Amino acid sequence: MDLSTVLCLFVSFLSIFLFKSLAKSFLLSFKGKQSPLPPGTMGWPYIGETFRMYSQDPTIFFATKIKRYGSMFKSHILGYPCVMISDSEAAKFILNKDQLFKPTYPASKERMLGKQAIFFHQGAYHANLRRLVLRTVMPETIKDLVSDIESIAQSCLKSCEGKLITTFLEMKTYTLNVALLTIFGRDENLCGEDLKRCYYTIERGYNSMPINLPGTLFHMAMKARKELAQIFTQIISTRRNMKQDHNDLLGLFMSEKSGLTDEQIIDNIVGVIFAARDTTASILTWILKYLDENPCVLEAVTEEQESILRAKEESGEKMDLNWSDTKNMLITTRVIQETLRIASILSFTFREAVEDVEFQGHLIPKGWKVLPLFRIIHHSPDNFKEPEKFDPSRFEAITVAPKPNTFMPFGDGAHACPGNELAQLEILVLLHHLTRNYRWSIIGEKNRIQYGPFALPENGLPIKLYPKK
Ligand code: HEM
Repeated sequence: MDLSTVLCLFVSFLSIFLFKSLAKSFLLSFKGKQSPLPPGTMGWPYIGETFRMYSQDPTIFFATKIKRYGSMFKSHILGYPCVMISDSEAAKFILNKDQLFKPTYPASKERMLGKQAIFFHQGAYHANLRRLVLRTVMPETIKDLVSDIESIAQSCLKSCEGKLITTFLEMKTYTLNVALLTIFGRDENLCGEDLKRCYYTIERGYNSMPINLPGTLFHMAMKARKELAQIFTQIISTRRNMKQDHNDLLGLFMSEKSGLTDEQIIDNIVGVIFAARDTTASILTWILKYLDENPCVLEAVTEEQESILRAKEESGEKMDLNWSDTKNMLITTRVIQETLRIASILSFTFREAVEDVEFQGHLIPKGWKVLPLFRIIHHSPDNFKEPEKFDPSRFEAITVAPKPNTFMPFGDGAHACPGNELAQLEILVLLHHLTRNYRWSIIGEKNRIQYGPFALPENGLPIKLYPKK
């Protein structure tokens, strides 16, 4: 084939693409005659504005659009037309109207996590799963796990002592171990190295191109996912033979009342590990960065943690942490809240319109994706004074609590995060031991952020961790 033939073919393909896109937009604008589509641009055919959005800080992409088009605008990313929403009330509406906007994920991600996982469902099946997950991570249950989490935190920090570490990677080990404790209880033998190896392979392939050919990360991840399913099947059958009741998530999933099949159980175990791990590890990584940059805050957190131990000593209480100690960590809790706001690790989430929806004078056509922009809501000066400043005192309840509905790091509505209490607990416990016993220095560039898919300090924040004198 010579160059002119290739060129000819390329131009023909492009014309077909352009024609199809134009015809589609024409049909949509005709269908929604009373209400126009939201303002905005759709970028290139098929590619849309994907590269523009992902090749820079998404905050800049969103801010430029909002300045030009207002708080609701259309775009085209990852192969889909979409509407982006930066107003907090509108975001809340979208997240709470399950019958109009369903959760949506790329098909490749569904296949990898498992089609039966909680995120992809609505209705009775979803409600049943949510009830089971919530029962495992509600305060009444996790308060009994405090000392186990404490041991995991201490051994994680001990293993990093004196070393140059990548904070995010070490925090991921910590949060994986806590997730496994919640799912499998104290039955350590169940969570062998094979389980972890398979999970790490899945994780490496999760954000790769979904090409299922031998040698690709995606292919390896899919293979590891199959192996992981076999490991879980084995664990389930061992548990069945033991004929004992278990109070952990696997125990609840396996109870007769849950009505779940083994495949559903497996998909949801993978799903919960996935939801619990990187999110919490990212927040911990950001907290170390902000504490390093704000020595007064670090001092206040350390003092709070020391005072908790002093009070226990004075009253002759056991020195191990317990649930009510963690409820007295008010300054540390505000540091977590402020980090959740400013880091906004999930810049946005996805929903899909299940029918044509008229919203605020615009049409959101059926099948379009809708993205509530958490990061923009958390960084708006209308919602938070001096939003770029790390200031935990803004969460001092009585004086300056955030405006209602403007703080949604755990989402909102039927799919809001059920694991928020667990996440907070594991972060508090780790910070208790970290601030009392260690100090750290950041190695290399401090201010760059990478987005892939979570917002994270560049290279996962390399630090040197050393025992406090
Ligand atoms: C700081 C850590 C965490 C953050 C920032 C976070 C954030 C979120 C957000 C924003 C959502 C809603 C997504 C959406 O609406 O599309 C979500 C859902 C979810 N999270 Fe978390 N999460 C964290 C930790 C955890 C932990 C520790 C667990 C462990 C149980 C967990 C389990 C889940 C599950 C199962 C869902 C899906 C809920 C559903 O679809 O009904 N998350 N999380």
